[in-house]
Amino acid sequence: DKGNHRHFMAKEIHEQPEVVGRTIAHYVDMAALRVAFADPFPFDFKSLSRLTICACGTAYLAGYVARYWFEKLARLPVDIDVASEFRYREVPMTPGGLALFISQSGETADTLASLRYAKREGQHVLSVVNVATSTIARESDTTAATLAGPEIGVASTKAFTCQLAVLLALAVAAGRARGVLSADEERRIVEAMIGVPSLMTEALKREVDIEHLSRELAKASDVLYLGRGTSFPLALEGALKLKETSYIHAEGYAAGELKHGPIALVDEHMPVVVLAPPGELMEKTVSNIQEVAARGGRIILVGDARAAHEAALDTFATIEMPDVDPIVAPLVYALPVQLLAYHAAVFMGKDVDQPRNLAKSVTVE
Ligand code: F6R
Repeated sequence: DKGNHRHFMAKEIHEQPEVVGRTIAHYVDMAALRVAFADPFPFDFKSLSRLTICACGTAYLAGYVARYWFEKLARLPVDIDVASEFRYREVPMTPGGLALFISQSGETADTLASLRYAKREGQHVLSVVNVATSTIARESDTTAATLAGPEIGVASTKAFTCQLAVLLALAVAAGRARGVLSADEERRIVEAMIGVPSLMTEALKREVDIEHLSRELAKASDVLYLGRGTSFPLALEGALKLKETSYIHAEGYAAGELKHGPIALVDEHMPVVVLAPPGELMEKTVSNIQEVAARGGRIILVGDARAAHEAALDTFATIEMPDVDPIVAPLVYALPVQLLAYHAAVFMGKDVDQPRNLAKSVTVE
């Protein structure tokens, strides 16, 4: 049932304040402002020397965002790869380590094969899944569910942000266990998490502007997405979402990598979506986009009033975002990214819920 939406993808984008709110509420103690998992972990974050994260597609990109969180909040080294590579890399793993698998469907063949490999290598297997009865959930030692509800649209939206919510809670739990995060820091992050649903609702109010801007993307044959830090994997996700729904060629790049090659592509026909949430890297990202502007690129800036102010003169358009705590920015900034892809595809008359050549659950390698 699409409710009053034209497509499942639209419905699922709009459900995010609710389902992400529900997922966050499940993993935090609202009164104590602490992360709270119902059962104690059967492994010890404190003694881990490395975390291995493995998944496919959008779930992999959620893991890629989480890598920054585990490294920053828990000082835990992270190895991350797409499952189709991981499963054949013959990765040597120290027994007793932790391997984390992320999957909406819980049935993705490559992710499952990687999970089985990790088990054979003596890893403790933790999975973040949306379908609680799935094979990946069943074969894991521990699961942390995303409470996104059924996701029908082939392009993953609400599962992604729910994955981010669970992964952030896990990173905070790891940070506490490893003695890296103080109780005060944990409280600040948990408060920021609790604030996410209303910020998402705020971000969804930009939809009319985004729909308008998506027509600009629809005219393009190539689009670049740029970001730094956690906005880098989000840039990859933006490009993936646009490719799969609209069939427009898009690439995500780390903003600082631009000058090492891709800037050669930039001309006045190329829209460049720049994700510049607040944080210590915002000014660096904004300075990278001045290089794009100097070459005539049409910059679509996704940022708050400060970013817009810093970049004001040179941008083609700005999607003005509410003020967010940098740590939760990927959850909120995911929404304009999804809406851009959705509206570009709808404007172009594409079947957004069932893009050509794609399946919701990829059970063959
Ligand atoms: C992209 C998308 C895919 C899936 C990938 C993994 O929008 O939906 O990239 O994320 O096929 O699927 P799951 O999460 O079911 O393992």
